[in-house]
Amino acid sequence: MASLGQITIPRAPSFDMSLLRRRFDRPMRTRIGFSGRIASALSNVGEQTQVSAKPSLSQRVIEEEAKVMVGTYARAPVVLSSGKGCKLVDAEGKEYLDCASGIAVNALGHGDPDWLQAVTEQAALLAHVSNVYYTIPQIELAKRLVATSFADRVFFCNSGTEANEAAIKFSRKFQRFTHPEDKQVSTGFIAFTNSFHGRTLGALALTSKEQYRTPFEPIMPGVTFLEYGNIEAAADVIRSGKIAAVFVEPIQGEGGIHSATKEFLQSLRSACDAAGALLVFDEVQCGLGRTGNLWAYEAFGVTPDIMTVAKPLAGGLPIGAVLVTERVAETIKYGDHGSTFAGNPLVCSAAIAVLDKVSKPSFLSSVGSKGRHFKDLLVKKLGGDTHVKEVRGEGLIIGVELHVPANPLVDACRDSGLLILTAGKGNVVRIVPPLIISDEEIERAVEIISHNLTALD
Ligand SMILES: Cc1ncc(COP(=O)(O)O)c(C=O)c1O
Repeated sequence: MASLGQITIPRAPSFDMSLLRRRFDRPMRTRIGFSGRIASALSNVGEQTQVSAKPSLSQRVIEEEAKVMVGTYARAPVVLSSGKGCKLVDAEGKEYLDCASGIAVNALGHGDPDWLQAVTEQAALLAHVSNVYYTIPQIELAKRLVATSFADRVFFCNSGTEANEAAIKFSRKFQRFTHPEDKQVSTGFIAFTNSFHGRTLGALALTSKEQYRTPFEPIMPGVTFLEYGNIEAAADVIRSGKIAAVFVEPIQGEGGIHSATKEFLQSLRSACDAAGALLVFDEVQCGLGRTGNLWAYEAFGVTPDIMTVAKPLAGGLPIGAVLVTERVAETIKYGDHGSTFAGNPLVCSAAIAVLDKVSKPSFLSSVGSKGRHFKDLLVKKLGGDTHVKEVRGEGLIIGVELHVPANPLVDACRDSGLLILTAGKGNVVRIVPPLIISDEEIERAVEIISHNLTALD
C-alpha cells in the first residue's frame, strides 16, 4: 500500500459522550407510545430499572430504534458507543469485557492501531471503484489468501451468506461445465443438522433451523439434511451421483460449537472424490485463526475444493471471500457472478492488516494457549455446577452447554459487564472473544460467568 506521508490517525477510545448525545438529539418527529418490546428492553438499561421521567441516552436510542428499524433483531438493551481492545463502552460510559466480538468478527479487538492505520490511510487514498477496474489491495489480499491456504484463486463478496451463495453457484457451474453432455447434471446439495450457512435464499436452504426457512418458502430445492458426523448416511447420499456439493462447517458455531471428527471430514472428502461432488468448508465463523490454526481445516488433514470465509477477515468491515482450487476456478467465466462493492480497496486494506497479524505463527500459538487456559478455567469453575453439561471448543471458539436455557446467564453476565452469546437451541453459552484477549481478561470473564451461575437456578 502506498504511504501517504503525514496522516493523522483519529484516536479511538476517548470518545466525547456529549458529541454522541448531540448527534442523537437532532430534532425529529416524536411519536408517542411504547410497545411491550421497548418497555421490557428499557427496563434493563443502565442502572435504572424503571422508565424514569428523564430517560438516559441509551433508553432514548432503544425507543427510537423500535420506531424506525424493521424488527429483525431481539437486541440486548445496550447501546455501545466506543471500544478499545477487548473493552466496549456504552452510551452512559459503562464498560463491558467483550467476549462476543460482534459475533466472531473483531479478531483484533476494537481500534487495533495497525488496522486503524490501514483503514484511515486507504480511506484517504481510495475507498471504492467497483470491479470494473483493478485495485492493488484486492490483488494483494488475494495473493495472501492463496499463499496461506489450499486455494489457487479467490472471489470476493461482502458477507458470509454471500460467500456461500457464490459457492452454491460455483458448484452448480462446475458440474455443468465438467459434464457438458449430461442432461441430468448433479444439482443437489448436502448440509447437516445444526448447520448455519446464512440468510439469503440459497444459503438459507442449507441452514438447518426450520423456523428460519419455512416463512420464505419456496427456497432453493434439492438440499438433503443429514446428521452431522454420520459418515454412512453422507456416503450413501453422495454415492447417488445427484450431489453437486457438500457444505460443512469444520466447527459449527451458531449450531452450538460442535467440532467435526477427522474421520467424518476425511470420509466426506473420499466420498466426494469418488462421486465427482465438491466439498465446501464453511469457515465463516471458525476460520482465520479462531481455532489456533489459521484455517480450521488444518487440524483435520483434509482440504476442501471451496472454502467460504467472512466474519473476521476485515476486522469489522463487511467482506466475504470464496477460496477455490484451480479445477473449480477454470469452470467460472466472465459474467457468471459479481458484486459492486466486493473487494474494494478499503475493506481489502483492512483485511491485509488483519491477515498479516493473525497469520503469524506466534499469534496463532497464542490463540491456542489462551483457548486452553479459558477452557481449563471454565471446567474448573463451572464443571461442578448442576446446570452445566459440557465445556467444549477449539482455541477461542468455546461453548458451554447447559441443561437449561442460557439466556438468564448471558443477561446476568451483561449486567455484570461481560458480553457473551448463546448458540445451539439456546442452551449453549458461546464465547468468541477477540483473539487478542489477555490471560487476565480471560480470568475476569470466567469469574463473572461463575459468579452469575445462580441466574440459572
Ligand atoms: C458458519 C457461518 N456461515 C455463514 C454465516 C452467515 O454470515 P453473514 O451473517 O455474514 O451473512 C454465518 C453467520 O453467523 C456463519 O456462522
